Amino acid sequence: MRKETRKAVIAGNWKMNMTPSQAKTLIEELKPLVAGKNGCEVIVCVPFVDLTTAVEAVKGSDIKVGAQNVHFADKGAYTGEISAAMLKEVGAEYVVIGHSERRQYFGETDVTVNQRVTAAVRAGLKPILCVGELLEQRDQGITAEIVSLQTKIALSGITAEEMKQIIIAYEPVWAIGTGRTATAEQAEEVCAVIRDVLKGLYGEEIAEAVTVQYGGSMKPGNAAELLAKTNVDGGLIGGASLVAKDFAAIVDAAN
Ligand code: 13P
Repeated sequence: MRKETRKAVIAGNWKMNMTPSQAKTLIEELKPLVAGKNGCEVIVCVPFVDLTTAVEAVKGSDIKVGAQNVHFADKGAYTGEISAAMLKEVGAEYVVIGHSERRQYFGETDVTVNQRVTAAVRAGLKPILCVGELLEQRDQGITAEIVSLQTKIALSGITAEEMKQIIIAYEPVWAIGTGRTATAEQAEEVCAVIRDVLKGLYGEEIAEAVTVQYGGSMKPGNAAELLAKTNVDGGLIGGASLVAKDFAAIVDAAN
C-alpha cells in the first residue's frame, strides 16, 4: 500500500479548550464545512467532559470523536484518571496518547505511553500515538534516534493486527504552538524514519498501511505542502482546529 491508498486523517487536538457548550457550537459550525469531504477522515479530540456532547453533535456527519489521554489500568484507585472502557462507553473512537505536553508537564514516559497504547488498543480504541524530538535533540543531530526509540518503546508488545488500529503523529516539540512549522522536507524525513521503524517491527505491508501524521503549527497556509509529502498522511492540529473555517481549510487541503 502506498500514499495513494492510505486514507489521510485530519485530527483536531483541542487540548484544554472548549467547554461542552462551546464544543457543540464549534462542531455545528464545522459540520457543513467538512460535509462530503471524504478524501480524509476527520476527527476532533476533545476534553473528557466534552465527549458526550461531541458524540451527540457529530451525528449526521462523518466526523469522528477522540479523547486526549487514557489511563492504562482497567479500573481502580487512580483518582482523576479515565479508563479505556469509560471512553468506549461514551462513544470515543480515537485517543491521543503520549502527546509532548503530557510528557513535558505530567511526567509521561515512553513506558507509560506503551502501557496506555496497549490498554487503549485492547479496549478497541484507536490510539493516535505522538512522538517527536525536542529542539536541543534536533540541534544535536539525534532526531531519528529519539523518534525511533520513542516509537519502538511505545509499540512494545503491540501485535501486527493491533498496529492496524494505530495512527502515529510526528510532532516536533519545537513546532508545537510556536508558529514555527517543520519544513515539508523535515516532516517527510522523520515520517519516513517512523515508517522504516514500522517496517522493521511489522514488515512492509503493515508499515505501508499505517497513517503517519505531522503535527506542529499546521495551518491552512502550510497544510497542502506538508500533506503532499509521500510519508505524511495527515495532520494533528492544535490551534487551527479551534477555528472551524481554518480546520475545514486543512481538511480541504487533504482532499
Ligand atoms: P499546534 O497546531 O497548536 O502547534 O499544536 C500541535 C499539536 O500539539 C497537536 O497535537
